[in-house]
Amino acid sequence: DLISSTFSESFAKLVILAITFLSVIVMMFSLSLPLSFLVIIAGPFVFLLINFITKRTKVLFSQQQVTLGKLSGQMEESISGYSVIKAYCQEQNMINSFKENNDKLQELGIKANIWTGILMPAINVMQNIDFIFIVIVGSLLADKGIITIGLISSFVLYARQFMRPLNELASIYNTLQSALAGAERVFEIMDNKEENVSEGIIKETSIKGDIEFKEVCFAYVKDKPVIKNFSIKINHGIKVALVGETGCGKTTLINLLTRMYDVTSGQILLDGLDIKEYNLKQLRSYFGVVLQDSEIFNDTVYANLCYGLDSINKARCKEVCQSVGADAFILRLPQGYESVLTNDGMLSEGERQLLTIARSIMVNAPMIILDEATSNVDTRTEKNIKSAIDNMTRGRTSFFIAHRLSTIKDSDLIIHMEHGEILEVGTHEELLKLNNGYAKMYRLQVGD
Ligand SMILES: Nc1ncnc2c1ncn2[C@@H]1O[C@H](COP(=O)(O)OP(=O)(O)O)[C@@H](O)[C@H]1O
Ligand SMILES: [Mg+2]
Repeated sequence: DLISSTFSESFAKLVILAITFLSVIVMMFSLSLPLSFLVIIAGPFVFLLINFITKRTKVLFSQQQVTLGKLSGQMEESISGYSVIKAYCQEQNMINSFKENNDKLQELGIKANIWTGILMPAINVMQNIDFIFIVIVGSLLADKGIITIGLISSFVLYARQFMRPLNELASIYNTLQSALAGAERVFEIMDNKEENVSEGIIKETSIKGDIEFKEVCFAYVKDKPVIKNFSIKINHGIKVALVGETGCGKTTLINLLTRMYDVTSGQILLDGLDIKEYNLKQLRSYFGVVLQDSEIFNDTVYANLCYGLDSINKARCKEVCQSVGADAFILRLPQGYESVLTNDGMLSEGERQLLTIARSIMVNAPMIILDEATSNVDTRTEKNIKSAIDNMTRGRTSFFIAHRLSTIKDSDLIIHMEHGEILEVGTHEELLKLNNGYAKMYRLQVGD
């Protein structure tokens, strides 16, 4: 807002200045040629001065913005990460680094403002020196009878009119500099390519859920591949489990499937069509997702459960929550289902997971993704919600990521990944028979 108003105000001023400037030049030249040259010559000097100073203020203003950003980030961190900071006895360190940044911001602010403050007086001094020259040369010319004394005084008035736009130009330039420093950061974010949610022509409403990964490669950072040549065909309606060490690329694979990121090379097909062909919004609505980090919105339980749906169906909310065993703790909240949830430890991590599972059941999507959705609930609760999840996934292509292998044992297809590649694929029995990595992992977990 500030940026746009600064720009439009400055622009209007610029137009007016240009007009004054041109008409004054014409008047001056018609009065006296030699004196006009004296005025014009001062121009480049003034510009050099403006340049010299604004170069410094520009750097200072942008440093100021960066430091301010850092400081705000730090403040936010120290509030949201308050318990971690205390647990690690980092209060003093936080205070120190805050002080350091704060002092830096103060120093930069003072410097930037000093330079800005100097600009106008410095230009004034230069102009006054120029006036002295004009008067000296003017009186010499008058002495020789080339011009009259009266002309000198009117010329000085015009010279002032000529300088005034230069002055204002300098001040506008300065305002623009500080606005630009702010704008630069906004542009950086805007430069990130916008997701085109309406791209893709196909608006198929019913899909089967056949998925095929075709030689998919992906890297978040150039030359650091996370998914390598990943190929597999998944028939609709089956339950797929992704297993493998932390960091092997399971979540990344899900991100590619929901097009949070696009494959570097290769293709992902849904019902035989590249997922890029689908309308992005439509594509994402095909998946009921429970992500690794259970995101809870600052709203009522009902609103959280019906997030992304057109309306709130209270009866269905209750039914779903009962099926995953979230009902009990919701009813313990001060206002039950009408309680407004916060992110400050009001719910335990496990309870949040139960809510996000309930939310994914609510959307009733044709495909389901559960990324370590039950990693924070106890084994008994996990067993309890298993039937709800089984119900939800029946007949739908579903992806499970879980570390407790006992929970994915009954999957139709288990994909064991390592460093972004498929190590082995099969059912639980097949993989046990192979007696490879999966079998070892399983024996380790059942303590055998
Ligand atoms: N946004 C990201 N930017 C850069 N690297 C990432 C990003 N997300 C994940 N990674 C890296 O990609 C690799 C795979 O991560 P991920 O798919 O989350 O693993 P998993 O879910 O199997 O534990 C890891 O090495 C991780 O550090
Ligand atoms: Mg993960």
